[in-house]
Amino acid sequence: MDGNGRWATQRNKYRTSGHKAGVNSVRKTIKQASEIGVQWLTLFAFSSENWQRPEKEVSMLMELFTRALKKEVPELHENGVRLSFIGDLSRFSDGLRKRMKTVESLTKNNRKMVLTIAVNYGGRWDIVQAARHLALALQNGRIKESEITEESFERFLSLNNAPHPDLLIRTGGDQRMSNFLLWQAAYAELYFTQTLWPDFDESSLNQAVEEYYNRERRFGKTPKQVKEES
Ligand code: FPP
Repeated sequence: MDGNGRWATQRNKYRTSGHKAGVNSVRKTIKQASEIGVQWLTLFAFSSENWQRPEKEVSMLMELFTRALKKEVPELHENGVRLSFIGDLSRFSDGLRKRMKTVESLTKNNRKMVLTIAVNYGGRWDIVQAARHLALALQNGRIKESEITEESFERFLSLNNAPHPDLLIRTGGDQRMSNFLLWQAAYAELYFTQTLWPDFDESSLNQAVEEYYNRERRFGKTPKQVKEES
């Protein structure tokens, strides 16, 4: 969800008002995604690198997350959305961590859509924490070396119960992954748009999905094989 800062600067406003406007896009996107049948939606809300921003911006973002969680969760829960948080949560305040846990347990039986929010997340961090847990499992005999495969390794990653993403959308014009879902997005279709996150709305999502349907996903096979299989 990139471009909040630029959106605000273009309007002679503080960067923080771009983040506030970004929350509206979050709300619209979740609703529209659920309406068009997306069952898994993962939002990159705060990267491990974002701590380097000015202290004021970071603390405002924390406040915004806390407030948004309080305000938005009842409706999400009503609409069958299951929430989960991935990332190194240890750096957040006790209060925010507790709120995340409460929200996860409140919504754990919801089935319409799984909404994962990545906070203090980094794809490299995820792979390293998985390797650490795998090493422990190996040490205490829960897994044998011969059982280490891509599938078994994946169970240690943060999104262990989720299918791999089909489509990865980045707003704001930059064309890079910026350490998001590095393992899981190996075969994701990448969609980059100039639209700044606060301007991203229902029709922007529809446009991305439409383009996704026009892509041919071959997963290493030939176009002929793909055609025959479909
Ligand atoms: C990147 O834009 C955006 C962020 C670091 C924060 C994202 C947060 C939100 C959209 C609001 C809250 C989210 C939830 C899930 C409640 P940027 O600041 O890097 O923009 P720039 O590249 O234009 O400077």
